[in-house]
Amino acid sequence: MAKDSNGAANSLQSILYERGSLRLLDQRKLPLESVYLDIKDASDGWSAIRDMVVRGAPAIAIAAALALAVEVHNLDFAGTPGDAASFLVKKLEYLVSSRPTAVNLSDAATKLQKLVLKTAETASEPKPVFQAYIDAAEAMLSDDVAANKAIGSHGARFLQGQIEGSERLCVLTHCNTGSLATAGYGTALGVIRSLHAEGVLEKAFCTETRPFNQGSRLTAFELVHDRIPATLIADSAVAALMKSRQVDAVIVGADRVAANGDTANKIGTYNLALCAKHHGVQFYVAAPITSIDLSLSSGQQIIIEERSSKELLHSDGGLGKQVAASGIAVWNPAFDVTPADLITAIITEKGVITKGVDDAFDIKGFIQKSL
Ligand code: MRU
Repeated sequence: MAKDSNGAANSLQSILYERGSLRLLDQRKLPLESVYLDIKDASDGWSAIRDMVVRGAPAIAIAAALALAVEVHNLDFAGTPGDAASFLVKKLEYLVSSRPTAVNLSDAATKLQKLVLKTAETASEPKPVFQAYIDAAEAMLSDDVAANKAIGSHGARFLQGQIEGSERLCVLTHCNTGSLATAGYGTALGVIRSLHAEGVLEKAFCTETRPFNQGSRLTAFELVHDRIPATLIADSAVAALMKSRQVDAVIVGADRVAANGDTANKIGTYNLALCAKHHGVQFYVAAPITSIDLSLSSGQQIIIEERSSKELLHSDGGLGKQVAASGIAVWNPAFDVTPADLITAIITEKGVITKGVDDAFDIKGFIQKSL
């Protein structure tokens, strides 16, 4: 189990924040060591996101917002309120450049940019602009936990109603969508937590999630930590597992959901969805509304991040020794897009989005109704 090397609570909390101070759990060191890194400004935040100290769509948005909140809390700024707003707008643009696929980061940045520009219009000094920014960034932390708990309970209720014949459910998940990928509790893993809390989870299966091993490194750690009955499988064992009829449902998170329901998530998610379709297994996406990008009509428009060849050439997602021949070409997309027609339903904090009679999601209509 993880040992704490620098005095922080030994927990699943990836983001430790109090005003003026941000510490991020270095997820590359889990499950054997629990080390928190001090994040002092936007530049530290950018590197922590790019280098996978913190990862998971909601967690990177919140970590980015809070890294800048720490920087401005400690800043001695000379300038007008408009200068303060421009300073924040530019820093947020820079933070968004750290990783491209998850929409939560750019969604958070856009909301914060609008807020500071509006605050600057009526402010007589820079301080209220920075204060409005800090307050809004801090609210993102608490709002995310509340959203995840709501996703968990909507999802658990919906899954129990959908899947007949099994008193207790076996659920397969991919990547890490738990406390470590969010401000707490998790999205897809939050639904698994809720199913377990309600006594209806027989077992969770988690994939290793090559090449970076978010499943074996992080999800297995969370499941063991919470004493949830669980089994780790190789990514390549998914089809065989489904054929053995041991899975009632697949539930995954999302990095960006297009208006038609096409969903970008960790590489390998599309494989799971294809296997699920073939074996008649329900396939669910669990994500907060902030993961939905209504500006994109389909998943074809989603930018997929490609990561370093080192993640494949070296063991342990690039952190270990070399295991493949130098000189081999590598293609390493971090995400793939699962088409909406392979997705049964999308579980959000506002409820579950199902398909209409036309067999399509009306995500825009759902969001408008839920406002
Ligand atoms: O590359 P990562 O580890 O940031 O990818 C994470 C995922 O793909 C998650 O499934 C997604 O961000 C949802 S996290 C609640």
